[in-house]
Amino acid sequence: MSKIIVKKSPSLKGTVRISGSKNSTLPIIAASLLTDKCCILKDVPKLMDVEVICQVLASLGVKVKWLSNDSLEINSALLLKSEAPYELMRKMRASFLILGPLLARKGKARVSLPGGCAIGSRPIDLHLKGLKALGANITLGHGYIDAKADKLVGSRIYMDFPSVGATENVMMAASLAQGETIIENAAQEPEIVDLANYLSNMGAKINGAGTNTIRINGVSELKGCTHTIIPDRIEAGTYMVAAAITNGDVIIQNVLTSHIKPIIAKLREADVKVIEGTDEVRVIGNNPIKAVDVKTLPYPGFPTDMQAQFMALMGVAKGTSVIVETVFENRFMHVNELRRMGAAIKIDGRSAIIEGTKELTGAPVKATDLRAGVALIIAGLVSSESTEITDIYHIDRGYVNIEQKLSNLGANIFRV
Ligand code: UD1
Repeated sequence: MSKIIVKKSPSLKGTVRISGSKNSTLPIIAASLLTDKCCILKDVPKLMDVEVICQVLASLGVKVKWLSNDSLEINSALLLKSEAPYELMRKMRASFLILGPLLARKGKARVSLPGGCAIGSRPIDLHLKGLKALGANITLGHGYIDAKADKLVGSRIYMDFPSVGATENVMMAASLAQGETIIENAAQEPEIVDLANYLSNMGAKINGAGTNTIRINGVSELKGCTHTIIPDRIEAGTYMVAAAITNGDVIIQNVLTSHIKPIIAKLREADVKVIEGTDEVRVIGNNPIKAVDVKTLPYPGFPTDMQAQFMALMGVAKGTSVIVETVFENRFMHVNELRRMGAAIKIDGRSAIIEGTKELTGAPVKATDLRAGVALIIAGLVSSESTEITDIYHIDRGYVNIEQKLSNLGANIFRV
């Protein structure tokens, strides 16, 4: 079992390039099922989650080929199967994103129900509600979902919560449905816009992606295209926090600053200097960090995927901060691990109250999920003793070459 060891590090300095967005790549790969023509994706992050969704597609008969370290060719001409094996589906919740496209292309899909995960029960009712509204007949049994539709027909769908995955699944299926689909209270995340741009490049008719109302006029078929994935705003935010906590001076390249406004705003509120360029940000630490309150919200609010990293930062801030998690019901698994490292954190329902301490101590800890894991790395950078992180496969799901990127900035981090 590999471990990541982090030791107290000097102020991070230098330049880091952000990879393509994992959360854009996964639905975009799934959307490639909608055409029998070849699609080429560029700036794809070579991550475990991406490998998993590629394996899911391959199991359906799709040809997936890496053309280089970050470009992928997907050819779904031979989409033979409409059932994805449980052993692959269970590895990653986001595999569920194949449901909409598979149903639209084949008229049927059989996929396993995603289980719970470390950050909550994560229901799929909104995905199913949306697909049912398009005319799908959905049955559940033996841990599987069977969806069938001779023809999908456009409909008006209201999302009870602006779910990213449900908006994506419905948007993909609606692209090949007959007539107009209107998604109300849709998710507005940049990854939704990237997916809509990809689908539009394939010939779909989509308006309003990035607002709370998305209109999709179904077309009878989609064509192949070449698409470049947007930069990963969460990876960018993670390096910004790493720079801030170490009182560093780091230029973060390949960033769309409009996507990270809440992160920039909160860092500035915490007295960290952030200079915005065209496609980069420079983060200059200005210790001590000031305690600030954070509430996670759907986009354009503060991202839940940055909550754990911010908690690590607040762990060494001057004063007391409150972090409220409103998106997921149980996303405080990292709190116990941060406490083991000396952080003073209390939980009260969906709020965490953090009393900043001067220095964390480091400890053997466990990555309980992807963002929780990276928060431990961030905390380890400013801990007096060494931090040993296990279960690091979570971290590899979402961060390209993390030790190398951090080492290049001067961090004491290695994998054993
Ligand atoms: C995506 C991201 C994840 C991020 C999350 C919120 C990917 C691969 N993952 O996950 O990194 O943390 O958005 O920004 O893009 N919900 C329901 N019913 C549903 C679907 C969701 O109640 O059918 C609830 C969830 O339990 C959760 C909330 O909606 O409380 C948000 O979930 P959702 O936006 O769907 O997250 P994901 O798409 O799974």
